[in-house]
Amino acid sequence: MTSTTINRLIRREVLSRVWGERLVMFFKLAILAVYILGSFAASQDQNFSFNGFLSKKLSLGGIAEFTSNGILQLTNASRQQVGHAFYPDTIRFKNSSNSSTTFSFSTTFVFAIRSAYPTLSGHGIAFVIAPTRGIPHALPSHYPGFFNETNNGNSNNHIVVVELDTIQMREFGDINDNHVGIDINGLNSSMSYPAGYYANNGGQFQNLTLISGKAMQVWVEYNGVDKQMNVTLAPINIVGKPNKPLLSLSVDLSSVIEETMYVGFSSSTGSVGTSHYVLGWSFKINGQAQELSLSQLPKLPRIGPKKTSRVLTIELPVISIVLVSAAISGAVYYIRRRRKFAEVLEDWELCYGTHRFKYKALYIATKGFREKELLGAGGFGRVYRGVLPSSKFEIAVKRVSHESRQGMKEFVAEIVSIGRLRHWNLVQLLGYCRRIGELLLVYDYMPNGSLDKVLHDQPMFSLNWNHRFRVIKGVASGLFYLHEEWEQVVVHRDVKVSNVLLDGELNGRLGDFGLARLYDHGTDPQTTRVVGTLGYLAPEHMRTGKATTSTDVYAFGAFLLEVACGRRPIEPRAQSENLILVDWVFACWSRGDIRRAVDPNLDANYVVEEVELVMKLGLMCSNSEPSARPSMRQVLQYLEGEIAMPELTSLGISATGLTFTHREGFDDVAMSCPKMPVRVVDNSVPPQVSGADPGHTSPPACTLLSVGQMTELIF
Ligand SMILES: *[C@@H]1O[C@H](CO)[C@@H](O)[C@H](O)[C@H]1NC(C)=O
Ligand SMILES: *[C@@H]1O[C@H](CO)[C@@H](O)[C@H](O)[C@H]1NC(C)=O
Ligand SMILES: *[C@@H]1O[C@H](CO)[C@@H](O)[C@H](O)[C@H]1NC(C)=O
Ligand SMILES: *[C@@H]1O[C@H](CO)[C@@H](O)[C@H](O)[C@H]1NC(C)=O
Ligand SMILES: *[C@@H]1O[C@H](CO)[C@@H](O)[C@H](O)[C@H]1NC(C)=O
Ligand SMILES: *[C@@H]1O[C@H](CO)[C@@H](O)[C@H](O)[C@H]1NC(C)=O
Ligand SMILES: *[C@@H]1O[C@H](CO)[C@@H](O)[C@H](O)[C@H]1NC(C)=O
Ligand SMILES: *[C@@H]1O[C@H](CO)[C@@H](O)[C@H](O)[C@H]1NC(C)=O
Repeated sequence: MTSTTINRLIRREVLSRVWGERLVMFFKLAILAVYILGSFAASQDQNFSFNGFLSKKLSLGGIAEFTSNGILQLTNASRQQVGHAFYPDTIRFKNSSNSSTTFSFSTTFVFAIRSAYPTLSGHGIAFVIAPTRGIPHALPSHYPGFFNETNNGNSNNHIVVVELDTIQMREFGDINDNHVGIDINGLNSSMSYPAGYYANNGGQFQNLTLISGKAMQVWVEYNGVDKQMNVTLAPINIVGKPNKPLLSLSVDLSSVIEETMYVGFSSSTGSVGTSHYVLGWSFKINGQAQELSLSQLPKLPRIGPKKTSRVLTIELPVISIVLVSAAISGAVYYIRRRRKFAEVLEDWELCYGTHRFKYKALYIATKGFREKELLGAGGFGRVYRGVLPSSKFEIAVKRVSHESRQGMKEFVAEIVSIGRLRHWNLVQLLGYCRRIGELLLVYDYMPNGSLDKVLHDQPMFSLNWNHRFRVIKGVASGLFYLHEEWEQVVVHRDVKVSNVLLDGELNGRLGDFGLARLYDHGTDPQTTRVVGTLGYLAPEHMRTGKATTSTDVYAFGAFLLEVACGRRPIEPRAQSENLILVDWVFACWSRGDIRRAVDPNLDANYVVEEVELVMKLGLMCSNSEPSARPSMRQVLQYLEGEIAMPELTSLGISATGLTFTHREGFDDVAMSCPKMPVRVVDNSVPPQVSGADPGHTSPPACTLLSVGQMTELIF
């Protein structure tokens, strides 16, 4: 072997060894490079950030899509739909599959939930850590895109969810329909709390409404060493993350989270179509996720932009038609109502504010002046019972029709001044209301009705003598107050039993005072109108048309006799001799048997002296000579026994005198008839008066005027 050959062999040997080493080295390097590159790539994957999704670097499932401006729209207005969006690559959460430690991670995202309705929505948004990219077989609605009925709660799921839950599912123990929760492998939250945040300065808890449609930010942080998970929520208009998390849960995720997992979002709609949006998202393993740049996030769509055209083409016309018809019917209703409740209110009335009632209030109080509420119909109008809506106070409303506006001012002034009268035995006038052609007077309600009913119309109860005597004294005292005790003299003008009302304790109360004046005012001064009730009208009153305290006393006399005898002043169906009560009582008295006239209903249960006193007083007041009548002050004194009654004879009363006087009264009516318009107010009981001269009673102007046909007349 030559040396050259040996050298060649050595060189070849060396070369091949060198090459071999080099190759080994190369492969080693290559493997190292791959390893380094691979691990570099892997570590890059552990950290990402999206301010908007224009890059579309997410893997979508269900109906999720990217909007043109880069919003991740998980669901739209379609119902019963699921939307998923996952980061396409796996995330390594552990060093090895059976490591007992999960890496720490941190993520933050901005979301918004826009529902078609302000208070209803789909099922919310969830941040999901799952073993697969997407969640197969997950159901919408009930199992909001993460689970189904067989795998809910199953530990093989390996799913961690942070839910922004907007539907309360009681079967999963949801606390409300607006909460944040941490769910592990199932929908029963490991921890949840109502949506909101703790403000940094005061630490005060602030409620948030997930479905408000406003953008909000969520932070989810997990510490793999401390094994603690924090979830924080905040509106994006506050700066930075609140210091105190909304949820802080101690949980070891190492058994749940596998070595590599996918992260993403899931949403679902139920029976309400809802848009679930994600505007930005960042994530980091083993570190703080990069803060989102809020200013770079895509803008949320204006609320209901797509609907504009629908609004214009369909809804607007419909809405306008509805509005117009509503406006028209509203106007019609309003006008009808106005007409229904129209009142007459003149400037001069403004000072009577407190005495004036609203017609509407009276209308409501009397249930629309229902027949059922009718208490009675008298000479001046119909009286209704009512309950004032605001105070529940019981009232009686008298509707008086009046045609003339003339004199109304004076009359109302008088009404108001009468309203100031206060006496236990007067029915309190509370106020009035005026409408076209109508005046309404509001009185205290007297539960036991009028004395007239009790005395004459098969009463529910009969008044014993004690009651009657108390009523008589009460009325006398009320009348005395009107005549003498008040600041000015008030002539009642229409004292009669039907104007005496009984209160709850059967006290007599005089009502309707001053009302007769209504027909004095506003009438043609050329014609004389006498207002009152036949049988109670003093002769001189009929003659002159002038009412005085003395004519009131005359009427009070008739009232006394009526109460004691239980008969009307002019008894319609009686024997002719008994027709005129005064005559009859007088006849009985002159025969020395005044007790024969006493009401048989009293069954002789009475105090003789009192009955005799009342009847004699009745005769005394019925004297045709006004000056011979006592004053109400004297009447009261007699009734109270303060002074003794004088004997009737000493007052010059004789049987013939009384009879003559009475007849004279009726003749006057007949004779003055041509001047007087006559209105029969109540001719339901046609009385007959014998002795009235028919020759005087039928001039053409008063066809109605047959004295015998009058019981209650307004002349
Ligand atoms: C919702 O999205 C799906 C899929 O993109 C589409 O088929 C559907 O029409 C959308 N629904 C509405 C109401 O926009
Ligand atoms: C994973 O492994 C790396 C290096 O091998 C080590 O530094 C780290 O602490 C491990 N992390 C966990 C969570 O075990
Ligand atoms: C994982 O655990 C199994 C037994 O539980 C063990 O045999 C194996 O070596 C472990 N692997 C690592 C990478 O720790
Ligand atoms: C529920 O989901 C699991 C997988 O997560 C699947 O195996 C199962 O068939 C599903 N059940 C129903 C009823 O869809
Ligand atoms: C979820 O919570 C509900 C109500 O608290 C309970 O009835 C149900 O058994 C729970 N389900 C699971 C899987 O824990
Ligand atoms: C927050 O909401 C709860 C329940 O909805 C309510 O009770 C509470 O008063 C609210 N707090 C604030 C500060 O509005
Ligand atoms: C969770 O919040 C608590 C209280 O603010 C804090 O002490 C803890 O460090 C937080 N943990 C994580 C993982 O952020
Ligand atoms: C009078 O009215 C009151 C109150 O309504 C009632 O309780 C009482 O029974 C009435 N009296 C009579 C005798 O009807």
